[in-house]
Amino acid sequence: MKKIICILFFIPQMLAAQNVNYDEARIPAYTLPDILTGIDNKKITSAAQWEANRPALVRLFAENVYGITPEIKSRVKYKIIETNNNALGGKAIRKQVLITFEDFPQLNGINLLLYIPKHIRKPSVFIGLNFEGNHSLGNDPDVLITQNWMVDFQKNPEHIFKNRATLASRGKAVVETWPAETIISKGFAMATAYYGDIEPDHAEGWKAGLRGCLNKTEETEWSAMGAWAWQLSRMLDYLETDNDVNSKKAIVIGHSRLGKAAFWAAAQDQRFAAFISNESGEGGAALKRRWYGETHEIINKNFPHWFSGKYKTYAGSIDALPFDQHQLFGLIAPRAVYVSSAEGDQWADPNGEFLALKNAEPVFALYGKNGLGVDAQPKVDNPVGSDIRYHYRSGKHHMTAYDWEQYLKFAAEVVNKRK
Ligand code: GCU
Repeated sequence: MKKIICILFFIPQMLAAQNVNYDEARIPAYTLPDILTGIDNKKITSAAQWEANRPALVRLFAENVYGITPEIKSRVKYKIIETNNNALGGKAIRKQVLITFEDFPQLNGINLLLYIPKHIRKPSVFIGLNFEGNHSLGNDPDVLITQNWMVDFQKNPEHIFKNRATLASRGKAVVETWPAETIISKGFAMATAYYGDIEPDHAEGWKAGLRGCLNKTEETEWSAMGAWAWQLSRMLDYLETDNDVNSKKAIVIGHSRLGKAAFWAAAQDQRFAAFISNESGEGGAALKRRWYGETHEIINKNFPHWFSGKYKTYAGSIDALPFDQHQLFGLIAPRAVYVSSAEGDQWADPNGEFLALKNAEPVFALYGKNGLGVDAQPKVDNPVGSDIRYHYRSGKHHMTAYDWEQYLKFAAEVVNKRK
């Protein structure tokens, strides 16, 4: 299994090997845009001024990186496909909800899988996308198998055949782990859906996805990341209608590319109470200006559909971008944030992820929130921070039990305690 993951994540690195730097000493000097200078060039000294600056900054990220999310006014239908009050060994309620959009009958809709612990009334909820379908996450035999197109992540025809999930792929996700039993036992709900429900993840995927329904061209207004972020907000819309969970305490979480989507969702949609980035790297938590691991040029070459057309125009001149990812973290404030990196995932630029969060501290301070409490990236397996947190895990690019242990602690200590 480890071998598969390695191959998967090293392919792009091999392709672009000549441009990849893993030496901190070779990173050319760069200057980050001042986070406390507004779009209007005025100094920001209060939370109110930061709030006033917010829409213009979101807009700037949209125009230059993630694409502008269009106003989509389709009637939405929620169909509870099934409910089981004795799921996960009797400890949870399971619901499978189909979210469809009347104006886009071409889309199969979003299949939401929800587990709710029975021992807590209206728990906080982790919400996120998954790579290989809800059924791939665990051995629950009643979870529906996704019919939608998927990337052949595993190169194992027994699990993904001709870009469709097989029956044998139940519980066989290799890209990500959602430990439902652990989440439930700690008193949290989880809500997840397959990211390909809204757009298949390949360069032409937009045609069969939501973006294609809107007749927008791929290159202009928005991007696959924008569409997946939109999907997360629609999942939250449903949770707002479900009295069994506390949608005001929704923690949006994502690993790798899905961490990038979750970040953009949290930045735009302030209903998310907290954001967790698991190794989201370039286009996610990592500073763009650092020449380390995956770069702007590499990601746009390998995944041209992930970001807007405009973003590609910064090839070779990333310093000209009027912002960097620390400001995207600023847009999460005063909400809670957790960022995690892994030692075996230098591709995602762990120190660049730390530095982005670190450089967002002044915005959190405007709201009276504590910073990370350290000036440099901590040693491995040594979580730091309180309101905003960071860890650098030993091991590979993945979402592990160790990661979840920290996230569940963070959710209990920070998210649950907030009003
Ligand atoms: C590739 C890509 C990363 C991405 C990762 C993933 O490695 O280069 O940017 O985060 O895939 O989504 O797993």
